[in-house]
Amino acid sequence: MVHRLAVIGLGDMGSAHARGFDQLENCHVVATVDLNPSGVPQHATEWRHGLPRHYTNYREMLEREKPEAVVVAVPDLLHREVSEAVLHAGCDLLLEKPVATTLADTDAIIALAAEKNKLLQIGLVYRYSNFYRRMAELGAQPGHEVTLMWCKELRQPFPQRPWFYSQHATGGTIVEKDCHHFDIFNWVIGSRAVRVFATGGQHRWKSGSEIACNYCPDPPRVIEQIDTVDHALVTVDYENGARACLILCMYLTPQNVMPEGLEIGAIARSGRQICAYGDSRMGVGGIGEPFTWETIDMKGDNDGLGHIGCQEQRRDFLRCLDERRTPLADGKVGRDSLAIALAAEQSIREMRPIDL
Ligand SMILES: NC(=O)c1ccc[n+]([C@@H]2O[C@H](COP(=O)([O-])OP(=O)(O)OC[C@H]3O[C@@H](n4cnc5c(N)ncnc54)[C@H](O)[C@@H]3O)[C@@H](O)[C@H]2O)c1
Repeated sequence: MVHRLAVIGLGDMGSAHARGFDQLENCHVVATVDLNPSGVPQHATEWRHGLPRHYTNYREMLEREKPEAVVVAVPDLLHREVSEAVLHAGCDLLLEKPVATTLADTDAIIALAAEKNKLLQIGLVYRYSNFYRRMAELGAQPGHEVTLMWCKELRQPFPQRPWFYSQHATGGTIVEKDCHHFDIFNWVIGSRAVRVFATGGQHRWKSGSEIACNYCPDPPRVIEQIDTVDHALVTVDYENGARACLILCMYLTPQNVMPEGLEIGAIARSGRQICAYGDSRMGVGGIGEPFTWETIDMKGDNDGLGHIGCQEQRRDFLRCLDERRTPLADGKVGRDSLAIALAAEQSIREMRPIDL
């Protein structure tokens, strides 16, 4: 069956979704929505299933096109409003992370999807990567349960678009960026986060800073109001005694030039060590296990199109539509990672540990 899909929000992420879904045999992107001119190919020949009709008003699109499913990739603050319109229109939903900027909005989206009996998949793309699935499998092996994890996310700034630098619009830098990493912690550790402590602030990006993100096509721009942190240290305690820690820096220029790139590591009570570098190299070792670099299929889940897991995330959404199955990255998975991120933001503001 060919699924009729629409994409709302055609910035970096939404245009990648539109192009990625168009590559899949069983998906027809019938419509796109953005306030600004489309960031996707404009000629029918560039689309596998023909040029989608473009709208500037998502309510009008939902009314006219009656798509079966919708991808929502608008700025975070709009997630609830747009998701509710999509669910009320009777569509299944692939919603970009973070689910929303507050737990109240998150719970409202999850409850409405359940009430309408609609699928809700969250864009936690790492869940669909062979790379981190392997890490989660290693973490689930009996006798090797993971007790310590870390993530070093040292990177360039967000794109120089004002919403990324607004606490109100994003829920905070840690919400916008690190729900991915907290989700990997939750997945590999396999327990419930119970306490979060964080410290952070502004070393470099303050109101009036000129920002030039190295992957953003816009010219460098002065961001008048910045009330988000540009660095943070976050620790997370789990119910089973495991602990995890995140180091975040958002001002490496022009980008992270350290050879390891994004580093995520895990240590098991058995002494086993797992380290992952740059979403591409994973090593495992411990007692009776010589340290080895594993070969992992990195292409099979993204078809060479972008972020690891990106095409598998889309294929699996279509499979969930076919089978009416709950997505791997469902609302609860999205909520669990968001709760840690929001607690970290609160911990920085209040300078105290936050119980979840
Ligand atoms: N899963 C991932 O790895 C990943 C990566 C990047 C971004 N994201 C998420 O995707 C979402 C969008 O991020 P982005 O980087 O694409 O941002 P962006 O600023 O590049 O794009 C947002 C787009 O939404 C459009 N928009 C705003 N209001 C709208 C409205 N009312 N109706 C229709 N369109 C509207 C804007 O014009 C813009 O084109 C965010 O929630 C972000 O967290 C996820």
